[in-house]
Amino acid sequence: MKLTLRVWRQRDADAPGAMSTYDVDGISADMSFLEMLDTLNEALILRGEDPVAFDHDCREGICGACSLVINGDAHGPERTTTCQLHMRSFRDGDTIDVEPWRAAAFPVVKDLVVDRSAFDRVIQSGGYISAPTGSAPEAHATPVPKADADSAFEHAECIGCGACVAACPNGSAMLFTSAKINHLNVLPQGSPERETRVLDMVAQMDAEGFGGCTLTGECATACPKGIPLPSITAMNREWLRARRKVKG
Ligand code: FES
Repeated sequence: MKLTLRVWRQRDADAPGAMSTYDVDGISADMSFLEMLDTLNEALILRGEDPVAFDHDCREGICGACSLVINGDAHGPERTTTCQLHMRSFRDGDTIDVEPWRAAAFPVVKDLVVDRSAFDRVIQSGGYISAPTGSAPEAHATPVPKADADSAFEHAECIGCGACVAACPNGSAMLFTSAKINHLNVLPQGSPERETRVLDMVAQMDAEGFGGCTLTGECATACPKGIPLPSITAMNREWLRARRKVKG
């Protein structure tokens, strides 16, 4: 395949950015989107130009590092991570726009790389448990109802990629935050911090500058792990319950 790429280039956080146009040739339909960008970068390096900076780590849909807006969609046209998007989703001769996540709380570091440390701070504010859970053989010592275990597992699938924020017109992180809260709050091991967790994580989310939720649902549509929109409703219920319990 031969493609035209329009890629966001930005030297650093303070420099103005702009789209730059590149032609790439010899792209196989079996290549991943990141391998296609590798091909572009090899050509740029051979020409003595600065390669395009983009985030990646596992390239297996696990780590959440890859983060590109492709033709206006977070992670592109398929419901998956950018690293698991393959070039068979595009046609020979296509023009593809490639941009970084766009959100006030995710400032651009360089080109397609954004600073997502705001997510780390939200996690640090309450996304943990203090209860000793023992070693693996003791895992069944605390029975967990099947429905709760399934719910915790569903929410634990969030890889913190930030597609929910990038897709949301408000730059809201409520789907991400709700996944992290619901994962732990439904489990007995998470109950000692049940109230402080939701109050502190929501407060930190707000402090980081993420927008509010207006239930457009774009976040759940873009989420590569299928975190459902009602997760936000569950978090709001937890927050109201915690406020009542803590404030009286
Ligand atoms: S590089 Fe790890 S999820 Fe894409």
